Amino acid sequence: MQCCSMKMGLLFCILSVFLLCLHNGWQEASIYNYWRSKKNVTVLLWNWPFGRSYSLKGDVCWDLYKIPNRKLVDQRSLFPSAHVVVFHNRELIQGRQKLPTDLPRPQGQRWAWMSLESPAHNGNLQKFANIFNMTMSYRRDADVTLPYGELLPVEPEGNLVEDSHINKTTLVCWVVSNYMNHHKRTQVYKELIATVPVKVYGRWNKKPLSSADLLPTISRCYFYLAFENSLAKDYITEKLWKNAYQGGAVTLVLGPPISDYKAVAPDHSFIHVDEFASVQELGKHLQRLAEDKKRYEEYFH
Ligand SMILES: *[C@@H]1O[C@H](CO)[C@@H](O)[C@H](O)[C@H]1NC(C)=O
Ligand SMILES: *[C@@H]1O[C@H](CO)[C@@H](O)[C@H](O)[C@H]1NC(C)=O
Ligand SMILES: *[C@@H]1O[C@H](CO)[C@@H](O)[C@H](O)[C@H]1NC(C)=O
Repeated sequence: MQCCSMKMGLLFCILSVFLLCLHNGWQEASIYNYWRSKKNVTVLLWNWPFGRSYSLKGDVCWDLYKIPNRKLVDQRSLFPSAHVVVFHNRELIQGRQKLPTDLPRPQGQRWAWMSLESPAHNGNLQKFANIFNMTMSYRRDADVTLPYGELLPVEPEGNLVEDSHINKTTLVCWVVSNYMNHHKRTQVYKELIATVPVKVYGRWNKKPLSSADLLPTISRCYFYLAFENSLAKDYITEKLWKNAYQGGAVTLVLGPPISDYKAVAPDHSFIHVDEFASVQELGKHLQRLAEDKKRYEEYFH
């Protein structure tokens, strides 16, 4: 699955955010002080996400991220001395990895549950009740939040806005591989094509895009449909952060409520499906925007 390779690529990012949190402290004061008072913290990654491992040789936390006194390891023999043990949910749920419930659990050791999937794809977590001490996920209310993307300040480099109309040849584009009739996005797509043309790429339409072709293709579209496959609190994926923003198309989002997007994404950088009374109205709005250079460009500010 395309999204899996994306997730694998995010791994070091995830772990670095996590280590940064350990380094900089938790929001909660008591936990914050606990970690700050720890001279050395060992984080054991029990199972590598998707079974793909990376080298942890040397002092990776320092060498890659300049985080001192933190040891990231994957040798299970270090379990008795680890302060935190991180478990990636996918392999546990599939039964390919097991929790070390047969080992004595050292006092003070924290077990962290990690997943970037939406609840619909996490499996039945009932059996994990009262096992974990922390969560690591894209949710803002997780103990350690690992978003698919985030907003950071940069020095503006000239005017990125002016060219937003250049090379645009298609009104609306959608890239979809996993097309399911029961998805809300499918219903919205079907209603949308009754009003405006939508160019569809991806495996479903037998027009797959290589990763090299993805962003250039999106950049030729005025609008890109960043439609999530499941609707869940805070579940905003690379469809927004990478495909839409890096591709340079104005994005139409369907996923969690508008407030979740507003909490993390730049103001006036997306259009939410829920902003319109009907999909037909939405389609007309897109048509008008594409013809109004000034208003269209406001989405790139
Ligand atoms: C922390 O780890 C470093 C490097 O392994 C070691 O030299 C140092 O003695 C440790 N400090 C404590 C307080 O355990
Ligand atoms: C972590 O959770 C387990 C299971 O609920 C609990 O027994 C243990 O005391 C917790 N550890 C910490 C450090 O809070
Ligand atoms: C427009 O297309 C040309 C040729 O493919 C390319 O060199 C240029 O960078 C594109 N401009 C923008 C703003 O995407």
